[in-house]
Amino acid sequence: MEPVLELQDVSMSFGGLKAVDSLSFTVRENEIVSIIGPNGSGKTTTFNLISGLYEPHSGDILLKGESVAGLRPDLVHNKGISRTFQSLRLFTNMSVLENVLVGMHSVTSAGPFASMLRLPSVRREEKAMYDKAQEILGMFPGRFSGPRQHQPAFSLSYANRRRLEIARALASDPVLLLLDEPVAGMNPAESHEVMEQIRMLREKGYTILMIEHDMHVVGGVSDRVIAMDHGVKIAEGTYDEVANDPQVVEAYLGKRAADATA
Ligand SMILES: Nc1ncnc2c1ncn2[C@@H]1O[C@H](COP(=O)(O)OP(=O)(O)OP(=O)(O)O)[C@@H](O)[C@H]1O
Ligand SMILES: [Mg+2]
Repeated sequence: MEPVLELQDVSMSFGGLKAVDSLSFTVRENEIVSIIGPNGSGKTTTFNLISGLYEPHSGDILLKGESVAGLRPDLVHNKGISRTFQSLRLFTNMSVLENVLVGMHSVTSAGPFASMLRLPSVRREEKAMYDKAQEILGMFPGRFSGPRQHQPAFSLSYANRRRLEIARALASDPVLLLLDEPVAGMNPAESHEVMEQIRMLREKGYTILMIEHDMHVVGGVSDRVIAMDHGVKIAEGTYDEVANDPQVVEAYLGKRAADATA
């Protein structure tokens, strides 16, 4: 399968701290790749680099062979990389449906005058956007049906807000979907459901790079796992290979020991 995303020796520092250190990896079409690692190992910084929030100090990031390193976040999004955030960033006063609609590329071919006059071309586009939103919300059975779509996002349960973030990220038809801790804070039943949904997304053809601490979910969905520690990739392989890698075990145990004495 063709590489969708390639990181080539990507580095980024905050002051003296190397948050990401010569990181290289590839995500291929229709793969689910997970990044694991202790707190502060550089996982979210990697996402921030890929999605254009930060510019790498060195190295390159390619989407389907084309460099996106240092592009503005909105331009990276237009190129097809969509993400969710570890701390949710929904428009809490907007409805469920509106949150999905704003996730779509808002470039309408009709133009502002046609929009003001509400010409048929505009109504057709609006209808297409609405139908698309229904299709995406329908991927979360029983969660966002009927009147629930008109509820403000703030009124949703925590787990449904996390699901809505995924729905919004899907609205732009991403080439690559980045999920930052999609099951964080969920109970086992909720995270199991999200795991099933991530599997369903792979069946639909999506390519996913995910950060996750929940090893049940990581083991359950990942084609490949990358482990990071102190900004460096310390292991890569199947879930079993990485979970049993001595350096990975050491990274987690070392962190726990350090936390215990902190
Ligand atoms: N904006 C920032 N300014 C300064 N340091 C930062 C910034 N963002 C992250 N860091 C530091 O960079 C390192 C990597 O952080 P990052 O958020 O990428 O970790 P993470 O692997 O996502 O951790 P977690 O599992 O806790 O989410 C940490 O030491 C963190 O304190
Ligand atoms: Mg993080």
